[in-house]
Amino acid sequence: MARLIDGKAAALALRTEVARAVEGFVAERGLRPGLAVVIVGDHPASRAYVRTKTRMAEAAGIAARLIELPADIQTAALLERIGELDADPAVHGILVQLPLPETIDEAQVLLAVSPKKDVDGFHPANVGALFSATRPDPDRLLVPCTPLGCLHLLRQTLGAEGLRGQEAVIVGRSNIVGKPLAALLLAADCTVTVAHSRTRDLADVCRRADILVAAVGRPGLVRGSWVKPGAAVIDVGINRIEAEDGGSRLVGDVAFAEAEQVAGAITPVPGGVGPMTVACLMRNTLTAARLQSGAGG
Ligand code: GUN
Repeated sequence: MARLIDGKAAALALRTEVARAVEGFVAERGLRPGLAVVIVGDHPASRAYVRTKTRMAEAAGIAARLIELPADIQTAALLERIGELDADPAVHGILVQLPLPETIDEAQVLLAVSPKKDVDGFHPANVGALFSATRPDPDRLLVPCTPLGCLHLLRQTLGAEGLRGQEAVIVGRSNIVGKPLAALLLAADCTVTVAHSRTRDLADVCRRADILVAAVGRPGLVRGSWVKPGAAVIDVGINRIEAEDGGSRLVGDVAFAEAEQVAGAITPVPGGVGPMTVACLMRNTLTAARLQSGAGG
Protein backbone atom coordinates (compact mmCIF):
# COMPACT_ATOMS: atom_id res chain seq x y z
CA MET A 1 0.00 0.00 0.00
CA ALA A 2 1.35 3.40 -1.00
CA ARG A 3 2.53 6.00 1.48
CA LEU A 4 0.21 9.00 1.45
CA ILE A 5 1.88 12.30 0.49
CA ASP A 6 0.27 14.82 2.85
CA GLY A 7 0.01 18.04 0.87
CA LYS A 8 -2.06 19.71 3.57
CA ALA A 9 0.68 19.25 6.17
CA ALA A 10 3.44 20.26 3.74
CA ALA A 11 1.48 23.37 2.76
CA LEU A 12 0.88 24.33 6.38
CA ALA A 13 4.61 24.01 7.08
CA LEU A 14 5.47 26.14 4.04
CA ARG A 15 2.84 28.79 4.86
CA THR A 16 4.15 28.97 8.43
CA GLU A 17 7.70 29.43 7.13
CA VAL A 18 6.54 32.14 4.70
CA ALA A 19 4.53 33.93 7.42
CA ARG A 20 7.64 34.07 9.60
CA ALA A 21 9.72 35.38 6.69
CA VAL A 22 7.04 37.97 5.86
CA GLU A 23 7.27 39.39 9.38
CA GLY A 24 11.06 39.50 9.02
CA PHE A 25 10.66 41.37 5.72
CA VAL A 26 8.21 43.85 7.27
CA ALA A 27 10.57 44.50 10.21
CA GLU A 28 13.56 44.96 7.92
CA ARG A 29 11.99 46.87 5.04
CA GLY A 30 9.11 48.70 6.72
CA LEU A 31 6.65 47.54 4.11
CA ARG A 32 4.23 44.67 3.82
CA PRO A 33 4.11 42.39 0.75
CA GLY A 34 0.91 43.01 -1.23
CA LEU A 35 -1.02 40.65 -3.49
CA ALA A 36 -3.84 41.49 -5.92
CA VAL A 37 -5.99 38.60 -7.12
CA VAL A 38 -8.14 39.36 -10.15
CA ILE A 39 -11.11 37.23 -11.12
CA VAL A 40 -13.29 37.78 -14.17
CA GLY A 41 -16.81 36.30 -14.22
CA ASP A 42 -18.47 33.91 -11.82
CA HIS A 43 -17.04 30.45 -12.48
CA PRO A 44 -17.92 28.80 -9.11
CA ALA A 45 -14.72 26.72 -8.68
CA SER A 46 -12.50 29.69 -9.64
CA ARG A 47 -14.33 31.94 -7.17
CA ALA A 48 -13.73 29.43 -4.39
CA TYR A 49 -10.02 29.19 -5.32
CA VAL A 50 -9.47 32.97 -5.31
CA ARG A 51 -11.23 33.35 -1.96
CA THR A 52 -8.89 30.72 -0.52
CA LYS A 53 -5.87 32.47 -2.05
CA THR A 54 -6.71 35.88 -0.53
CA ARG A 55 -7.68 34.38 2.85
CA MET A 56 -4.45 32.37 3.07
CA ALA A 57 -2.42 35.42 2.00
CA GLU A 58 -3.92 37.50 4.81
CA ALA A 59 -3.17 34.68 7.25
CA ALA A 60 0.48 34.77 6.12
CA GLY A 61 0.68 38.53 6.80
CA ILE A 62 0.37 39.54 3.14
CA ALA A 63 -1.95 42.46 2.31
CA ALA A 64 -4.35 40.82 -0.14
CA ARG A 65 -7.03 42.37 -2.37
CA LEU A 66 -9.61 40.52 -4.39
CA ILE A 67 -10.69 42.33 -7.53
CA GLU A 68 -13.90 40.90 -8.95
CA LEU A 69 -14.78 41.95 -12.49
CA PRO A 70 -17.86 41.13 -14.59
CA ALA A 71 -17.76 38.33 -17.19
CA ASP A 72 -18.63 40.77 -20.00
CA ILE A 73 -15.67 43.10 -19.36
CA GLN A 74 -13.74 44.02 -22.53
CA THR A 75 -10.06 43.12 -22.89
CA ALA A 76 -9.11 46.84 -22.99
CA ALA A 77 -10.88 47.58 -19.70
CA LEU A 78 -9.27 44.57 -18.03
CA LEU A 79 -5.83 45.62 -19.31
CA GLU A 80 -6.40 49.10 -17.88
CA ARG A 81 -7.30 47.67 -14.45
CA ILE A 82 -4.19 45.43 -14.51
CA GLY A 83 -2.10 48.43 -15.56
CA GLU A 84 -3.28 50.34 -12.47
CA LEU A 85 -2.35 47.44 -10.19
CA ASP A 86 0.99 47.06 -11.96
CA ALA A 87 1.77 50.74 -11.30
CA ASP A 88 0.75 50.53 -7.62
CA PRO A 89 3.88 50.23 -5.40
CA ALA A 90 1.83 48.57 -2.61
CA VAL A 91 1.03 45.67 -4.95
CA HIS A 92 4.00 43.31 -5.31
CA GLY A 93 2.16 40.37 -6.83
CA ILE A 94 -0.67 40.18 -9.37
CA LEU A 95 -2.55 37.00 -10.17
CA VAL A 96 -5.25 36.85 -12.83
CA GLN A 97 -7.23 33.68 -12.25
CA LEU A 98 -7.54 31.43 -15.31
CA PRO A 99 -9.48 30.42 -17.30
CA LEU A 100 -10.67 33.80 -18.53
CA PRO A 101 -13.93 34.16 -20.52
CA GLU A 102 -13.36 33.31 -24.19
CA THR A 103 -14.01 36.92 -25.22
CA ILE A 104 -10.82 38.04 -23.43
CA ASP A 105 -7.42 37.96 -25.13
CA GLU A 106 -5.52 35.88 -22.57
CA ALA A 107 -2.09 36.36 -24.14
CA GLN A 108 -2.42 40.15 -23.86
CA VAL A 109 -3.54 39.86 -20.25
CA LEU A 110 -0.51 37.73 -19.32
CA LEU A 111 1.76 40.33 -20.97
CA ALA A 112 0.14 43.16 -19.00
CA VAL A 113 1.49 41.94 -15.65
CA SER A 114 5.13 42.99 -15.44
CA PRO A 115 7.48 40.01 -14.95
CA LYS A 116 8.58 41.14 -11.47
CA LYS A 117 4.94 41.15 -10.23
CA ASP A 118 3.97 37.96 -12.07
CA VAL A 119 3.49 35.65 -9.07
CA ASP A 120 1.99 32.99 -11.40
CA GLY A 121 5.14 32.87 -13.52
CA PHE A 122 3.01 33.01 -16.69
CA HIS A 123 4.65 36.03 -18.39
CA PRO A 124 6.69 34.92 -21.43
CA ALA A 125 9.81 36.49 -19.87
CA ASN A 126 9.44 34.28 -16.77
CA VAL A 127 8.54 31.22 -18.86
CA GLY A 128 11.64 31.80 -20.98
CA ALA A 129 13.82 32.31 -17.91
CA LEU A 130 12.52 29.05 -16.41
CA PHE A 131 13.22 27.07 -19.57
CA SER A 132 16.65 28.55 -20.17
CA ALA A 133 17.95 28.25 -16.59
CA THR A 134 20.14 25.23 -15.87
CA ARG A 135 19.21 25.43 -12.19
CA PRO A 136 16.12 27.66 -11.83
CA ASP A 137 16.19 29.33 -8.41
CA PRO A 138 12.66 30.00 -7.05
CA ASP A 139 14.15 32.67 -4.76
CA ARG A 140 15.15 34.72 -7.80
CA LEU A 141 12.67 33.65 -10.46
CA LEU A 142 8.88 33.54 -10.27
CA VAL A 143 7.98 29.92 -11.09
CA PRO A 144 4.36 28.74 -11.62
CA CYS A 145 2.82 27.74 -8.28
CA THR A 146 1.34 24.31 -9.02
CA PRO A 147 4.51 22.85 -10.59
CA LEU A 148 6.57 24.36 -7.77
CA GLY A 149 4.24 22.66 -5.29
CA CYS A 150 4.62 19.32 -7.12
CA LEU A 151 8.42 19.64 -7.02
CA HIS A 152 8.34 20.44 -3.31
CA LEU A 153 6.24 17.30 -2.60
CA LEU A 154 8.51 15.12 -4.76
CA ARG A 155 11.64 16.42 -3.01
CA GLN A 156 10.05 15.78 0.36
CA THR A 157 9.02 12.24 -0.67
CA LEU A 158 12.14 11.14 -2.55
CA GLY A 159 14.79 13.24 -0.81
CA ALA A 160 16.84 16.14 -2.21
CA GLU A 161 18.92 13.84 -4.45
CA GLY A 162 16.13 11.34 -5.07
CA LEU A 163 14.96 12.83 -8.36
CA ARG A 164 18.28 12.46 -10.16
CA GLY A 165 18.08 10.09 -13.13
CA GLN A 166 14.46 9.16 -12.48
CA GLU A 167 12.05 8.55 -15.35
CA ALA A 168 9.29 11.16 -15.00
CA VAL A 169 6.10 11.05 -17.06
CA ILE A 170 3.79 14.07 -16.97
CA VAL A 171 0.33 13.50 -18.44
CA GLY A 172 -0.88 16.92 -19.60
CA ARG A 173 0.85 19.67 -21.58
CA SER A 174 -0.78 22.81 -20.17
CA ASN A 175 1.05 26.10 -19.72
CA ILE A 176 -0.07 26.13 -16.07
CA VAL A 177 1.26 22.70 -15.06
CA GLY A 178 2.64 20.26 -17.65
CA LYS A 179 5.11 22.44 -19.53
CA PRO A 180 6.61 24.33 -16.55
CA LEU A 181 6.80 21.12 -14.49
CA ALA A 182 8.75 19.50 -17.34
CA ALA A 183 11.28 22.34 -17.09
CA LEU A 184 11.59 21.95 -13.30
CA LEU A 185 11.98 18.15 -13.43
CA LEU A 186 14.55 18.41 -16.23
CA ALA A 187 16.51 20.84 -14.09
CA ALA A 188 16.24 18.31 -11.23
CA ASP A 189 17.96 15.75 -13.52
CA CYS A 190 14.90 13.63 -14.30
CA THR A 191 14.38 12.11 -17.73
CA VAL A 192 11.10 13.77 -18.70
CA THR A 193 8.30 12.68 -21.02
CA VAL A 194 5.30 14.97 -21.52
CA ALA A 195 2.35 12.84 -22.61
CA HIS A 196 -1.09 14.10 -23.62
CA SER A 197 -4.45 13.15 -25.13
CA ARG A 198 -2.87 12.21 -28.47
CA THR A 199 -0.04 10.13 -27.01
CA ARG A 200 0.06 6.63 -28.49
CA ASP A 201 -0.09 3.79 -25.93
CA LEU A 202 -0.52 6.21 -23.03
CA ALA A 203 -0.82 3.38 -20.48
CA ASP A 204 2.53 1.89 -21.62
CA VAL A 205 4.22 5.29 -21.46
CA CYS A 206 2.91 5.80 -17.90
CA ARG A 207 4.13 2.34 -16.83
CA ARG A 208 7.71 3.51 -17.49
CA ALA A 209 7.42 6.24 -14.86
CA ASP A 210 9.27 6.30 -11.55
CA ILE A 211 7.51 9.64 -11.11
CA LEU A 212 4.03 9.88 -12.62
CA VAL A 213 2.21 13.22 -12.68
CA ALA A 214 -1.39 13.50 -13.90
CA ALA A 215 -2.58 16.99 -14.86
CA VAL A 216 -5.30 16.70 -17.46
CA GLY A 217 -8.63 17.31 -15.69
CA ARG A 218 -10.12 13.91 -16.59
CA PRO A 219 -11.50 12.10 -13.51
CA GLY A 220 -9.85 8.73 -12.89
CA LEU A 221 -8.05 8.65 -16.28
CA VAL A 222 -4.89 7.06 -14.86
CA ARG A 223 -5.71 3.51 -13.79
CA GLY A 224 -3.88 1.37 -11.25
CA SER A 225 -2.58 -0.85 -14.05
CA TRP A 226 -0.79 2.19 -15.57
CA VAL A 227 1.33 2.69 -12.44
CA LYS A 228 4.80 1.16 -12.10
CA PRO A 229 5.10 -0.68 -8.76
CA GLY A 230 6.71 1.65 -6.22
CA ALA A 231 6.29 4.82 -8.32
CA ALA A 232 5.66 8.26 -6.82
CA VAL A 233 2.28 9.45 -8.14
CA ILE A 234 1.33 13.14 -8.08
CA ASP A 235 -2.30 13.84 -8.91
CA VAL A 236 -2.88 17.45 -9.95
CA GLY A 237 -6.48 16.94 -11.10
CA ILE A 238 -9.35 18.50 -9.15
CA ASN A 239 -12.59 17.29 -10.70
CA ARG A 240 -16.05 17.64 -9.21
CA ILE A 241 -18.17 14.58 -9.99
CA GLU A 242 -21.61 13.40 -8.97
CA ALA A 243 -21.55 11.33 -5.78
CA GLU A 244 -23.59 8.22 -5.05
CA ASP A 245 -25.81 10.17 -2.62
CA GLY A 246 -26.82 12.66 -5.34
CA GLY A 247 -24.41 15.34 -4.07
CA SER A 248 -20.94 15.91 -5.47
CA ARG A 249 -17.36 15.14 -4.50
CA LEU A 250 -13.83 15.99 -5.62
CA VAL A 251 -11.68 13.39 -7.36
CA GLY A 252 -8.34 13.56 -9.12
CA ASP A 253 -7.12 12.38 -12.53
CA VAL A 254 -5.87 9.14 -10.95
CA ALA A 255 -8.13 6.22 -9.96
CA PHE A 256 -6.91 6.52 -6.37
CA ALA A 257 -8.22 3.24 -4.86
CA GLU A 258 -6.49 1.26 -7.64
CA ALA A 259 -3.30 3.29 -7.81
CA GLU A 260 -2.62 3.28 -4.07
CA GLN A 261 -2.33 -0.53 -4.24
CA VAL A 262 0.60 -0.24 -6.65
CA ALA A 263 2.34 3.08 -6.06
CA GLY A 264 5.11 3.66 -3.53
CA ALA A 265 3.71 7.07 -2.62
CA ILE A 266 0.67 9.01 -3.82
CA THR A 267 -1.05 12.36 -3.28
CA PRO A 268 -4.72 12.33 -2.28
CA VAL A 269 -7.39 14.61 -3.81
CA PRO A 270 -8.31 16.77 -2.03
CA GLY A 271 -5.38 17.42 0.33
CA GLY A 272 -2.50 16.81 -2.07
CA VAL A 273 -1.25 19.31 -4.63
CA GLY A 274 -4.10 21.85 -4.19
CA PRO A 275 -2.96 23.26 -0.83
CA MET A 276 0.64 23.40 -2.10
CA THR A 277 -0.38 25.65 -5.00
CA VAL A 278 -1.73 28.21 -2.53
CA ALA A 279 1.31 27.94 -0.24
CA CYS A 280 3.65 28.46 -3.23
CA LEU A 281 1.67 31.56 -4.19
CA MET A 282 2.42 33.00 -0.74
CA ARG A 283 6.08 32.16 -1.23
CA ASN A 284 6.12 33.78 -4.69
CA THR A 285 4.48 36.94 -3.34
CA LEU A 286 7.25 37.30 -0.76
CA THR A 287 9.86 36.60 -3.47
CA ALA A 288 8.27 39.29 -5.69
CA ALA A 289 8.31 41.81 -2.81
CA ARG A 290 11.97 41.01 -2.13
CA LEU A 291 12.91 41.35 -5.80
CA GLN A 292 11.09 44.70 -6.04
CA SER A 293 12.59 46.09 -2.85
CA GLY A 294 16.07 45.20 -4.04
CA ALA A 295 16.47 42.75 -1.15
CA GLY A 296 17.44 39.89 -3.48
CA GLY A 297 16.78 36.27 -2.55
N1 GUN B 1 -6.22 28.31 -12.74
C1 GUN B 1 -5.86 27.07 -12.33
N2 GUN B 1 -4.65 27.10 -11.71
C2 GUN B 1 -4.25 28.38 -11.74
C3 GUN B 1 -3.09 29.05 -11.27
O1 GUN B 1 -2.15 28.46 -10.70
N3 GUN B 1 -3.05 30.40 -11.49
C4 GUN B 1 -4.04 31.06 -12.12
N4 GUN B 1 -3.90 32.37 -12.31
N5 GUN B 1 -5.13 30.48 -12.59
C5 GUN B 1 -5.23 29.14 -12.38
